[in-house]
Amino acid sequence: MLIRIPPPSAVRSGEITPEASYRNRRRFLADMGIGAVGLLTAACGDAREAPAPAAANAALTIATRSERAGGETVTPIETVTTYNNYYEFGTNKEDPSHNAGTLKPRPWAVKIGGECELPGTIDLDTLLKPHAIEERIYRHRCVEAWSIVVPWAGIPLGEVLKRFKPTSKAKYVAFETIYDKAQMPDAKWSGIELPYVEGLRIDEAMHPLAFLSIGMYGKVMPNQNGAPLRLTLPWKYGFKSIKSIVGIRFVETMPPTTWNKLQSSEYGFFSNVNPEVQHPRWSQKSERRLGELFKRPTLMFNGYPEVASLYAGMDLHKFY
Ligand code: MTE
Repeated sequence: MLIRIPPPSAVRSGEITPEASYRNRRRFLADMGIGAVGLLTAACGDAREAPAPAAANAALTIATRSERAGGETVTPIETVTTYNNYYEFGTNKEDPSHNAGTLKPRPWAVKIGGECELPGTIDLDTLLKPHAIEERIYRHRCVEAWSIVVPWAGIPLGEVLKRFKPTSKAKYVAFETIYDKAQMPDAKWSGIELPYVEGLRIDEAMHPLAFLSIGMYGKVMPNQNGAPLRLTLPWKYGFKSIKSIVGIRFVETMPPTTWNKLQSSEYGFFSNVNPEVQHPRWSQKSERRLGELFKRPTLMFNGYPEVASLYAGMDLHKFY
């Protein structure tokens, strides 16, 4: 992410702008692939899949696979796990892969609340139990104009949310990342207000493309990518894909979001990938796929036109 007022630690961040990564030879070579309780138990139904194994690097049992990135080449796992934005573990792209080992992804509980009939705190394994784990290959476009193609493992977000029976007042869904200073000793240098928070309109959250990921490349999610569960919203800029979720709230009004609070002129609530809407400091018309030399044109909704009906009649220059 890019912020106008850099946090103290960003002084050492040569990669806070994407172009700067070109200057870092080691990073460049790596990019090129060279060198380098149960309130809900009753609602759960029968288990079709065993809960995901907790151990990092453990293989997941994948029930179905789908390719949703136009047949594009999957980005090497080494790139996707070493070039991250997870500010709680440092503001340089390589920081999370070095520092996120202090995060403990098990045991893990998620608190569900707000406008729903079945609020409560649910253990992650109970949350996952009734769902078959899918693999979906998605494009992922960061607002900083770099992109990757990743095989995510997880479950449709909407199917999970429905189990809590949101009421008619649930117009939005608010998400919160864990904020534990003991597990995140560098978080004080993040330069952003923590806990990290994000939000979606309820129809966006219920869209079949919206995904709750628990792994990638057939394995349990690495900490730096948002273990044990994160959002994956392929038609939106990457910062909407909040990591290490501990809170989900159904709310009536648009919830605050981390980057919008920091710089609303640069980071809107919707943040749909849109080559026609400039970021105030750079164009969004093109992007560089990590590992490729040349830029490629950015596609409307990141190449997922099936979401367009969610925004019918909206001025997307205003609601960016
Ligand atoms: N979630 C939390 N809690 N903290 C963060 O700093 N960064 C966001 C998003 N989710 C972030 C976060 C940004 S800016 C991006 S681009 C994606 O995570 C990056 O996901 P990746 O590291 O798996 O590519």
